[in-house]
Amino acid sequence: MASSHLIRFSVLVFVLFSASFAEIYADKAEAKEFVLTLDHSNFSDVVAKHDFIVVEFYAPWCGHCMKLAPEYEKAASILSSHDPPIVLAKIDVNEESNRGLAGQFEIRGFPTIKILRNGGKSSQDYKGPREADGIVDYLKQQNGPASAEIKSAEDASNLIKDVFIVGIFPKLSGEEFDNYIALAEKLRSDYAFGHTLDAKLLPRGETSVSGPIVRLFKPFDELFVDFKDFDVAKLEKFIEESSIPLVTVFDNDPNNHIYLSKFFSSSNDKAMLFLNYTTEAAESLKLKYREVAEQYKGEGISFLIGDSQSGEAALKYFGLKEDQVPVLLVQKSEKFKYVKFNVEPEQIAPWLKDYKNGNVPQYIKSEPIPESNDEPVKVVVADSLQDVVYKSGKNVLLEFYSPWCGHCKKLAPILEEVAVSYESDPNVVIAKFDASANDITNGEFEVRGYPTVYLRTASGKLVDYNGDRTKEDIINFIEINRDKTEQVDSEPKDTEADSKPKDSKPAKDEL
Ligand SMILES: *[C@@H]1O[C@H](CO)[C@@H](O)[C@H](O)[C@H]1NC(C)=O
Ligand SMILES: *[C@@H]1O[C@H](CO)[C@@H](O)[C@H](O)[C@H]1NC(C)=O
Repeated sequence: MASSHLIRFSVLVFVLFSASFAEIYADKAEAKEFVLTLDHSNFSDVVAKHDFIVVEFYAPWCGHCMKLAPEYEKAASILSSHDPPIVLAKIDVNEESNRGLAGQFEIRGFPTIKILRNGGKSSQDYKGPREADGIVDYLKQQNGPASAEIKSAEDASNLIKDVFIVGIFPKLSGEEFDNYIALAEKLRSDYAFGHTLDAKLLPRGETSVSGPIVRLFKPFDELFVDFKDFDVAKLEKFIEESSIPLVTVFDNDPNNHIYLSKFFSSSNDKAMLFLNYTTEAAESLKLKYREVAEQYKGEGISFLIGDSQSGEAALKYFGLKEDQVPVLLVQKSEKFKYVKFNVEPEQIAPWLKDYKNGNVPQYIKSEPIPESNDEPVKVVVADSLQDVVYKSGKNVLLEFYSPWCGHCKKLAPILEEVAVSYESDPNVVIAKFDASANDITNGEFEVRGYPTVYLRTASGKLVDYNGDRTKEDIINFIEINRDKTEQVDSEPKDTEADSKPKDSKPAKDEL
């Protein structure tokens, strides 16, 4: 018994030992960082030494950066044994001395990853995934040629998925080929490119095609389109326009998100049709809408369609109601939109024509003007903004809020107290504007967050409020900035002890 006990004990010790040995070993392995740490002193030198280097611009406090860190490190360790090795680096641009580099690379958010080529002579945004395997795949592809040669049907079936662009050439040289490769270099972070001498290798291959010709494969609409002009700018425009669906579908399909994000980030006017797919009119609406989209190809309007069910959030965003569906709207830049309620199939084309000709009035989302508005803080909606703010001839303190904003809820009772203290002052109005339910069409007010508070004085001077959100500070702000001419009996009728301190004294002294 004793001996077997001893054996078991030694096995246990061995297991324990080897476990901790492995752990120590693992710690050591982790201690070697594959990601290079750069700073302003060595950034240029290190980058200059590499044909291809990946740099993450980060800030230590950024949550997405922390989440990325282990994946980025893992990718760096895998790619260190790639042939040739691919180097990943990082730079903390929160650090004062490194901020110049953030400026130079126009870093606007964290993390931003850039791929630098030719010793830093060219730089491109990293647009790949953020987990280790995805990073590895994307970087391998980016590190390879911008356009992969397709030499077999197998190459073709491995490469051609989603949107894929293939140049078909009778020889792999000459102006057309060079232009194609140059464009592939330029657009490589956004699109995948290939080229081939043999069109028969391609899906739906035709023997008649010998090129030079560019064929763009896509998983929607006509499935592929050809283009024969090798002017770089024209080819680029062709790729951009052909790689999004004629009509983008607004739904929750993850495969669709890329097209949705392209649609919404496009600088085109955006036409959107929301309809109930299960109604009788649905089919003819869809058909007509597609026809119209076809007609407007290349005319600066992008088209989207959505079922009113999945489009519910969108309808709400635009302040539209179920009974206004089917609804056709055009969003032109951020500020202008044009709406046709209860649109019928035959009305789509004429309405869009009117829109194009500038004959459709702008639509402004507004809640109804409240019938009674006798609370201390007045309610302003888009339709009453002119009357209450612009034409009132008063000093108006206007809060832009949204119902779900926590800071706004905290501010509400304070604003109410401020309003109460001004109740007998005919020259001051305290008001609020629900910016989630009303459009701010006047370019004067810039609202980037809630709450945003402005004072618009009787004479039209606009001052935004950035002080503490206390009754005293707000009143003080109004007193300093309001039009002085009207100030004879405009002292706030506020006699509460705690709000009379130092702040109101200067105002008194002025009188
Ligand atoms: C760059 O300089 C910093 C600060 O001296 C140093 O921590 C870092 O390791 C250097 N990086 C490289 C790749 O030499
Ligand atoms: C869509 O139309 C069907 C049939 O007319 C109706 O039953 C359904 O409630 C409608 N759905 C919506 C979201 O309006």
